Amino acid sequence: MKNSRLSASLLKVADYPLVAALINRRSRRFAVGMDITRGPLQFSSQLPPMPLAKEEEELLLFAGIGDTGNNIGDMAFDEHTDTAQGTGNSEGRTLMNFRGRTIPSACGAHTSQIFLTNDDGVFFNPCHHELPQHDVPSSIVKVSNQRLEIPRRLPYMHAFNQPYSNVAGSTYFIPVTSVVPIYLNLLLLLLSEEYGFFIIDTENADAPCGLADFRQSQGGHLYEQPKDGRIMRLRDLDSMVAETAAIEQGIICQNMMLMTQAMGLGGSIQTLGSGRHMLGCNPEVFEGLGFQFEAATRSGVPSNPIGRLPVWNSLLPPFVKSMSEAVQTVVKSKFGPEGFYRQKGYTPWKPETFDVPVLAHSERTIDAAIAFCEYVQKIYGRFPAHVDAFRCAYTYQAHHLDMDFYDMHFKQGAYTKTQAEHQEKWHGGERHVSKY
Ligand SMILES: Cc1cc2nc3c(=O)[nH]c(=O)nc-3n(C[C@H](O)[C@H](O)[C@H](O)COP(=O)(O)O)c2cc1C
Repeated sequence: MKNSRLSASLLKVADYPLVAALINRRSRRFAVGMDITRGPLQFSSQLPPMPLAKEEEELLLFAGIGDTGNNIGDMAFDEHTDTAQGTGNSEGRTLMNFRGRTIPSACGAHTSQIFLTNDDGVFFNPCHHELPQHDVPSSIVKVSNQRLEIPRRLPYMHAFNQPYSNVAGSTYFIPVTSVVPIYLNLLLLLLSEEYGFFIIDTENADAPCGLADFRQSQGGHLYEQPKDGRIMRLRDLDSMVAETAAIEQGIICQNMMLMTQAMGLGGSIQTLGSGRHMLGCNPEVFEGLGFQFEAATRSGVPSNPIGRLPVWNSLLPPFVKSMSEAVQTVVKSKFGPEGFYRQKGYTPWKPETFDVPVLAHSERTIDAAIAFCEYVQKIYGRFPAHVDAFRCAYTYQAHHLDMDFYDMHFKQGAYTKTQAEHQEKWHGGERHVSKY
């Protein structure tokens, strides 16, 4: 939304000091309209639920994944020859694009997006990157007319979240990360001449994950000797990718929390009871976000979320013809004729600097990455083997606080002046004054 409304909104919080946000940020879970029916903090809100205004949601989305122009790509980009197997330039090849958001992203991938649900429905907020300005996207897509009803029981919702999670009036933000592009990019790094990692599948008799022909003993470039310390287990690689996605979601949530404090709202990060259920792995019980799950062709292996059609799909068959095409798509997006490393103009560097040739991935690296993917597809009947193609681990809820609850049960300091002034500053209401 290329509009002045957001800029005016940003101005409303621009003066709030970062240090104050860091110090005063707190998980504040009790919203207007809520009840805690048991225990020492029992309280029944006397105020009706109050949904967040669009402006408030937009600011939180901006904090979470807002587009802030190009990253500066200030890495070495050197072509050097100090590896055992020839030239190396992994630094220069690591970045997947020059996008910049309010959050950092491994390899600059930026494949996390946010779904949100509120009293009006479920929305998908894909952050576009074409606009290098402080903006939120115009294309928020409504994917359902009703608030997502997350079953208020395990395994869908943690017991400790059940009293306050996704209550009326709240906005429940659900970051989801598309994992395959990052995975393929990491493979192109790990299987480069410079890295030369050899990946084994300890759950399949130490199989070489399709990489047998690429080993040094076969005239290849991958280090297969334990003394070289470059043997990696498939399970560990998959965990690394899963962690990368979860970390990114954690950063999104922290950004939203700092923005929550600057605005004087309440809210908290929440661990999902089950990310797979949230995506929609068991629609008979809980529709979740409506992702399409593809059954693995091997029994006992979990199904894989491959897309939320028509708004988002993974870099996997049937959206590409094969895993070979998936790998080539990543390579092309970087080094093809239209690839971002080959585009003049859309870079953070001066034009004369951009003429520095950035080495493309070598053919044997690409072949090794394809062979690896084909192995995983064949043995596990899905890709990746142990991490889902879309990952959803944490959510972030924001809401209007019921300060009477805090006044009644807490010593002073449970909320700050910014919360007390929120209604006055944002909704033309009155400043909160404690009745107790
Ligand atoms: C990764 C992570 C997951 C969390 N999950 C939940 C959660 O599911 N429910 C919840 O109420 N708080 C959750 N929290 C918030 C913590 O409970 C909270 O940060 C902690 O109690 C300290 O309080 P503070 O945030 O107010 O400083 C989570 C925090 C993190 C970092």
